[in-house]
Amino acid sequence: MKTAKPLIAGNWKMNGLRADAVALAEAVAADAAASADVCEVAVFPPFTALDAVAGALSGSPVALGGQDCHEAEAGAHTSCISAEMLADLGCRYVILGHSERRHGRRETSETVHDKARAAFRAGLTPIVCVGETRAQRIRGMTTEAIADQVFGSVPDAEGPMMFAYEPVWAIGTGKTATVEDIARIHDWLARLLHALGRDCEGSPILYGGSVKPDNAAAILAVEEVGGLLVGGASLDAEAFGAVIRAAG
Ligand code: PGA
Repeated sequence: MKTAKPLIAGNWKMNGLRADAVALAEAVAADAAASADVCEVAVFPPFTALDAVAGALSGSPVALGGQDCHEAEAGAHTSCISAEMLADLGCRYVILGHSERRHGRRETSETVHDKARAAFRAGLTPIVCVGETRAQRIRGMTTEAIADQVFGSVPDAEGPMMFAYEPVWAIGTGKTATVEDIARIHDWLARLLHALGRDCEGSPILYGGSVKPDNAAAILAVEEVGGLLVGGASLDAEAFGAVIRAAG
């Protein structure tokens, strides 16, 4: 059941130098302020732009997040960023277990689990992504694949946590799950999380995968959808603004 304002999250992935990121953040801040009564908005710039975007968002209702973090607090981990470093930059969220990490970088659920604990430690809210590949879907293994990821990734530790259902075959492909499929998977996932003591009221489930201005309102209307995780369309100020307005 929807109990809170939906979160419209923009995952910028590995896109944007600082000047582009600041310009995009300023546009998002204006759209988010105009829709602040109906939705929350968060952006996930590349690490290199976080500081500049934090400055551009100062005083705006837009929350900031990191696209990943390391499980350790500090140490000899060349190239990595800790959850504490993200918090230090003003982040509230961190995306974990995105398919571009699980499948693209062979990240296991065990690692996602440890990163989620690190996020709690730093006071961040992890947004854990789960979703089936095209091959798993064709074999009728969608719920098994997602259940495996949930059981492996969710720590026992207490902390605010969010989830994103992102069918891997829908990410960046222009293909979106049908609203019927989204409703079915979100409802099933909400029950699974409830059974794990991760009640959906406190852990809204976002949908992600080729969300665009023309499908955002229909997906947000699905009962168990608590928001949207938007990739490609979040890089275009006009398109992301239209997605934000679809929440109203
Ligand atoms: P997309 O990406 O909107 O470009 O499909 C979504 C995501 O990767 O979170």
